[in-house]
Amino acid sequence: MTVAQAQPNIALIKYWGKRDSGRNLPATGSLSLTLESLWTRMSVRFAEGPGEDRLYVDGINNDSMLGRVTGCLDRLCGAARPAATVESTSNFPIGAGLASSAAAFASLVTAAAAATGQAHDRQTLARLAGAASGSAARSLYPGIVELKVDDREIGVTSIANADEWPLRVVVAITDESTKRLGSGEAMLRSAATSPFYSAWVERQEADLEVARNAVLKRNFEQLAAVSEHNCLKMHSVMWTARPAIVYWNQATLACMEAVRDLQKYGVPVFFTIDAGPQVKAVCLAEVEGRVIEMLSSTAGVRRVLASGLGEGARVLG
Ligand code: PMV
Repeated sequence: MTVAQAQPNIALIKYWGKRDSGRNLPATGSLSLTLESLWTRMSVRFAEGPGEDRLYVDGINNDSMLGRVTGCLDRLCGAARPAATVESTSNFPIGAGLASSAAAFASLVTAAAAATGQAHDRQTLARLAGAASGSAARSLYPGIVELKVDDREIGVTSIANADEWPLRVVVAITDESTKRLGSGEAMLRSAATSPFYSAWVERQEADLEVARNAVLKRNFEQLAAVSEHNCLKMHSVMWTARPAIVYWNQATLACMEAVRDLQKYGVPVFFTIDAGPQVKAVCLAEVEGRVIEMLSSTAGVRRVLASGLGEGARVLG
């Protein structure tokens, strides 16, 4: 049995749409922060021979994700492989817009490759994880990560590590329940029905360039402006899909207001929101306490998690 750990990552320049659904190839590049304190640990044990795979999530048998796990193991080991028992534990709510699938598939490919003695490099593991969940490719890498894509494949790199720019992420959890519509289906609907989708895809490269330069120059203000803009554009694409996709609730909006209030006082913080109602506030280390205090006391916030930037997926022990 082999155990691996991966942390979720939070995209600042988002992946929202696929250029090839069959290969799960993203429409555009993206840029993200790999977290430190939130984690998923995955153990993989192979039987002697073929059979049905089994998946346990936080101790409970889970069939809803089993197909994706089996597909991922088939791509890694070939379909004639022995049956696997996969057990996953996380220290944060899953399926609620906190990038749990990113942490799950990054740790799964890492554990399964080690269990079968395959010495794949990080890039290969990132491609295998990305075939299961687009954002998972980024969780193989530490710190601030950029994913590039062309018609053939993705390429992932870490553009700064935690020591080089120790950003902090404060997550305001407004609802722990599992989302009703998964991101894969939501992306397909957005691409098929939102009149804003093509404009979103067209402007992505420009946003990536601004964000990449902001990271390289450690320019927080520039990173804040482009990240909030990119997040609001992604949600505008969702809102204008038919039927509309709205992941926010009242507390999501209240948290955005709270971040705006802090910004008025010159606090270096900005928000980003993924396919769920939680708000992630990215800030400089010296103001983390103020951001935690502000979001904890915002109406509708159930709890707040705080994290620095962390390492890529790795085998434990
Ligand atoms: O990797 P998926 O299929 O869970 O999609 C991730 C989508 C967002 O989290 C909303 C954006 C992103 O780039 O992570």
